[in-house]
Amino acid sequence: MKLLFLGPPGAGKGTQAQIAAKELNISHISTGDMLRKEIKEQTELGKAAKDYINRGQLVPDSVIIDMVKKRLQEPDCKNGFILDGFPRTLEQAIALDAVVKLDYCINFVINDDIIFHRICGRRVCEKCGNVSHIDRLGDNTVCEVCGGKYVTRPDDNVETIKNRLEVYQKQTQPLISFYKEKGILRDIDSGVDSAIVFKQLLEILK
Ligand code: AP5
Repeated sequence: MKLLFLGPPGAGKGTQAQIAAKELNISHISTGDMLRKEIKEQTELGKAAKDYINRGQLVPDSVIIDMVKKRLQEPDCKNGFILDGFPRTLEQAIALDAVVKLDYCINFVINDDIIFHRICGRRVCEKCGNVSHIDRLGDNTVCEVCGGKYVTRPDDNVETIKNRLEVYQKQTQPLISFYKEKGILRDIDSGVDSAIVFKQLLEILK
């Protein structure tokens, strides 16, 4: 199964991709996570990407397309994969289309109020990358998976979220029509409880 999760920041793409990848035994490819790893390791790519991410702007297409093409050639992608956060521009979608035939593009539909609540309260373990939310954590800052410390992503602040939403509307939303025309777009309501979102996803894949 080759899936793409499309949707605005904070829609829950990463959360659902993690659950679905385990359930379907396929790989989860998050371009956001890949870039954050490059930043942490202070690679040339990471140094180049850092400013774009912290401003809520997209990293240039050429960089991302090369990075994803390489990743898709790794052996764990043979079984199938979920693309989370790629493609985000028409140029990226066309480049992907030339090398991969997707089964479905899952479009995460959600309103902006919920997005702000989710992103402002998101906490990420700085050691293992596990994602949680202050609604579930309360005052707890210790990751239940690895004992690491929960931190806030540098791009999870109100000003940057506004930029990310604007970028999404201008550059990524046109992909909805692109995949609709291919007949593989499926909408899910992602503004509801995580288990209900996952149920909708399974209904589509059945
Ligand atoms: P990326 O990391 O991809 O960020 P994003 O698309 O903005 O998506 P998010 O990670 O914010 O949200 P999500 O939908 O995964 O939500 P999550 O599951 O975490 O990209 C970051 C940056 O990298 C970009 O801005 C750009 O600069 C660069 N970049 C990446 N890809 C690129 C590309 N292809 N081209 C160019 N640049 C690129 O959930 C959010 C919160 O809500 C969490 O706290 C979670 O616990 C909670 N939650 C999730 N689901 C539910 C639910 N159903 N109910 C209640 N709470 C929920």
